[in-house]
Amino acid sequence: MFASVLSTMGSVLVALYQASPLSPGGHSALHPSAPQAAHIEWLYWVIFWICFSAFVLTFAVFTRGSARTYISQPEPLPPIKEHPNDSKAVWYVGGAIAVTVLSLFAVLFMSVITGKQVEGATAEKNVLTIQITGHQWWWEIQYPNSQAYQTITTANEIHVPAGRRVIILTKSADVIHSFWAPSITGKRDVIPGPSSAFSFEVDKPGIYHGQCAEFCGLQHAHMGFSVIAEPEDQFEAWEKEQIAPARDPTTPDQLRGRQVFLTHACVMCHTIRGTDAGSRVGPDLTHIASRKMIAAETLPNTRGDLAGWISDPQVIKPGTLMVPNPMQPDDLQALITYLGSLQ
Ligand code: CUA
Repeated sequence: MFASVLSTMGSVLVALYQASPLSPGGHSALHPSAPQAAHIEWLYWVIFWICFSAFVLTFAVFTRGSARTYISQPEPLPPIKEHPNDSKAVWYVGGAIAVTVLSLFAVLFMSVITGKQVEGATAEKNVLTIQITGHQWWWEIQYPNSQAYQTITTANEIHVPAGRRVIILTKSADVIHSFWAPSITGKRDVIPGPSSAFSFEVDKPGIYHGQCAEFCGLQHAHMGFSVIAEPEDQFEAWEKEQIAPARDPTTPDQLRGRQVFLTHACVMCHTIRGTDAGSRVGPDLTHIASRKMIAAETLPNTRGDLAGWISDPQVIKPGTLMVPNPMQPDDLQALITYLGSLQ
């Protein structure tokens, strides 16, 4: 039995080590893409090996003890008397307790050190500050700027320049959420009231998935986000596009779509900068066509998915604040064409 337990543990180990490489848009705490996540991964393996050794040792001693005292014929228990090995046993047990306590203190010490490394220094110049607000159930992302018109507001997709330090300021608009991009850094609770800050820098360009990690209501599982790390020039190009107000319609269909947007419930909750729509209940849609996903990573940003989402979001994310929007098929098509033009 010992052998079979060991072989099972062995295959689990192999699976952990050979975990397939991180696919674009995926996430894994065992595939760090930022120094912060690398520190956490190191601590993970240290604790893993301590626990694994303790398990193997305990199991070996237990197996040996069971084999020794195996009695084929039940016989009455002998009277308890002092055994010459008793004092030796005291030393063994005492030693095991000492090793356990020492290991726990070692883990505590390494956790504190890792925590300090993850915090890191934020005194560098040229840091990028991003404000993140948790909503039920999506993430509002802002790039504050002293010039209000240069502030970028978007949703669920956090563009960052690869290799540059990013400071994230968090707040919540409603309940407690938790910001977690496992390939980048540890979980950070997003709490109503106090704002908190943490920082990271992503090593290499790529798309890294993140997820709300604190149960926050019915659609907690559909509260994903992406960290999109780009080379500096691509990031700057993105920034420039996002700062600009929405494009004006260039076709009759797009014009009709904008009219539909401004005369339906959309305008009650969303902003499209450059139009009369300025509400901040839901995500800013000024550049919605530049986003890969909609509804906090629930659906890809395609015409069909967008049509389904607008028509009846309650079917896709029951409980979401967005209301169903029944409308004429032509109006819906025009609306989607207009939204699709908002690059
Ligand atoms: Cu937000 Cu869970």
